[in-house]
Amino acid sequence: MIRISNKVFYLGTNDRKKFLFENNWPLPNGVAYNSYIIADEHTALIDTLEYGSNPDYLSDIDACLGGRPLEYLIVNHMEPDHSSMIGEVLRRYPQVRIVANSKTFKILESYYPVPSENILQVGDGSRLELGHHSLLFVLTPWVHWPETMMTYDTADRILFSCDAFGSFGTLDGGVFDDEVNFSFYEDEMRRYYSNIVGKWSGMVRKAFKKLEGVPVDIICPSHGIIWRTDPGKVLSLYDKWSRYESEKGVVIAFASMYGNTEKFADSIARALAVRGIKDIRVHDASRTHASFILSDIWKYKGLILGSCAYNTGMHPMMQLLVHEISVSAPSGKVLGIFGGSSWNASGSKALMEFAAGAGMPVVGNAPIEFLGRPYPEDIGKIEAFADKFAEELGK
Ligand code: FEO
Repeated sequence: MIRISNKVFYLGTNDRKKFLFENNWPLPNGVAYNSYIIADEHTALIDTLEYGSNPDYLSDIDACLGGRPLEYLIVNHMEPDHSSMIGEVLRRYPQVRIVANSKTFKILESYYPVPSENILQVGDGSRLELGHHSLLFVLTPWVHWPETMMTYDTADRILFSCDAFGSFGTLDGGVFDDEVNFSFYEDEMRRYYSNIVGKWSGMVRKAFKKLEGVPVDIICPSHGIIWRTDPGKVLSLYDKWSRYESEKGVVIAFASMYGNTEKFADSIARALAVRGIKDIRVHDASRTHASFILSDIWKYKGLILGSCAYNTGMHPMMQLLVHEISVSAPSGKVLGIFGGSSWNASGSKALMEFAAGAGMPVVGNAPIEFLGRPYPEDIGKIEAFADKFAEELGK
């Protein structure tokens, strides 16, 4: 039993079995599902776990309650990684009142029908008194589902933020921010942000606005570490990411069938390095999952995409990457495009169409292209492009 404050406990678990989060995003470091319980004069569970992730979950709840009934289950978010134990909780505690907003109940009905006597609907600014603890509900729609809300405990100034401020990666012993080396979680948090939340950055800004002036001592997200020592750190990272602020560096992502487009990517990387750009990440889109490339794209200001021609378009793995870029829509990028061809330049042409569709201006005399393999005479094109790109990046 891990205590967060006098009457508030952590009831999370690690998932090291799931291969892909949402059956889409790789989990090489697993993921943690966090649930919380407040054992006050009245008792409340805040979000549940993914079904099957912890066979001891219900007995852990029992242990925290010490034989008392569970009175409230607060549902901040309906995605099944947090809600799929609701049915089991209802069976164990048939009197429990499920506390959620109207949008949540609509989704809840479609997943796990709940008797009307178990429903306690709340709205933006509603309160629930538990004794010492007083809970305030803050609707934060589209961070990242329409029904998403946060629960704020005004007594201990704890924000139960659901997916916001969460990360991939299991909690390997350390549960609190002061118990871990954050550099690992920062990468996994940015990957989570760019993959799951980034598309909704505008709604994140609205949530920030709503929480302006609210004193927060502890942040309890639904994935990843709990912030009890330096919550300002994660608030400032989210502030930066949701504003699309990035660092001076470049992601070069290429798709190459036989290595010629890769050679071009390496030549561009070299040309940028000699112009003083120290953070350059070259990714093979066929080897590195879009999840990780997207995370680097969120981190760095420069983005250069290159594809060989493939049938009449770009390579399928580059197609997948640009699809994810279109969905998450990172803003403020300095974009370059290149491509090679055997008989036409359909790869670079398709990338230009992607950029136009996404409203992303392309640097230089775009695209830079080569026929067959890159020859020494192509180097001039690369040098001219690198000059322009480095200049744009420095602005
Ligand atoms: Fe962690 Fe949107 O669920």
